[in-house]
Amino acid sequence: MFRAAIIGCGGIAQVHAAVLHMLPDTELIACADLRPERAQAMAEKYGCRAYSSMDALLEAETPDSVHLCVPHYLHAPMAKGAADRGIAVFSEKPPVISREQWTLLEEAAAKVPLGICFQNRYNPNVEEARRLIREETYGKLLGARAFVTWKREVPYYHDSGWRGTWATEGGGVLINQSIHTLDLLVQLAGKPERVETHMANHHLRDAIEVEDTVEAYLTLGGVPVLFYATTAYTQDAPVLIELHLEKAVLRLESDGLEIRTGSGIERKTFEVPATLGKGYWGNGHATCIADFYTSIAENRPFRNNLDSVRDTADLMLTMYEQGRGSL
Ligand SMILES: NC(=O)c1ccc[n+]([C@@H]2O[C@H](COP(=O)([O-])OP(=O)(O)OC[C@H]3O[C@@H](n4cnc5c(N)ncnc54)[C@H](O)[C@@H]3O)[C@@H](O)[C@H]2O)c1
Repeated sequence: MFRAAIIGCGGIAQVHAAVLHMLPDTELIACADLRPERAQAMAEKYGCRAYSSMDALLEAETPDSVHLCVPHYLHAPMAKGAADRGIAVFSEKPPVISREQWTLLEEAAAKVPLGICFQNRYNPNVEEARRLIREETYGKLLGARAFVTWKREVPYYHDSGWRGTWATEGGGVLINQSIHTLDLLVQLAGKPERVETHMANHHLRDAIEVEDTVEAYLTLGGVPVLFYATTAYTQDAPVLIELHLEKAVLRLESDGLEIRTGSGIERKTFEVPATLGKGYWGNGHATCIADFYTSIAENRPFRNNLDSVRDTADLMLTMYEQGRGSL
């Protein structure tokens, strides 16, 4: 039985707690939040102990793992702090907000199992698209495009106390809402080679200092990839990833996969786990967290280990280095 603790008891932590409660070989023993009422509510719901900080929790408890569900700027330092005590780390995305923080994570990953929550890698339609590309079922990949067009308004930023600033969120739509899609493009197309990025703040200029919109012309795995993400839309539209192969176009939208060939359109649907949080977060948390613990039990590398997110993190940081100046 893995005895886990959750640090940060806000929105996404509710999904982690539900998964830890549901899995047969994990137990949520403690949680911590700067806002005591949040930790208390989680503790009451799951019968665990509540603390007001990670340090206080780790003084009193000896968990096998911590789940970091805190604001972005805290992921890397908290991962290092837990790893220094020999505690495994499962961190929400993004892994880092700066290149300096990457060093902290490398030090942490050298000591303990460390996983990053890119849960959408486990989506069945993504797995199927990966297989079709790898096996060249429809020939080679020629190019790709992806769109994330969501809606975020001023209260979303102001009420959180950490979103919308470089210091605590580390960026806007790129580092937060669309990093999953950027990561999937790297998983599907390959290593980043060329990067050209523009950023803008179209609809929240008076409210946040980070970008609400990013567009990039990338070369991944040798092919051109067009990337566009914004929080200036009027609803949370399904993310679209389109993969142009020699003999077909694959379209991933929500949980589905559409294969368009010269002879027609095949629509594949997949069985997906029940949604535990908001629909647009995807359904992969349970599969991803289960695999993290199974990988530790089986003493094998976790699929979303630090090495596996290096290219995405480096690409994201490069995009900020290029795009931030135009804001
Ligand atoms: N994987 C996904 O699909 C997904 C979805 C949503 C959020 N996230 C990520 O999860 C993380 C948290 O996001 P959220 O939406 O739950 O935010 P949130 O603001 O709802 O929750 C964060 C919590 O951390 C607490 N906190 C802040 N500083 C702390 C500290 N020093 N010690 C203890 N607690 C502290 C806050 O009080 C708050 O309750 C972010 O990294 C976000 O990007 C991931």
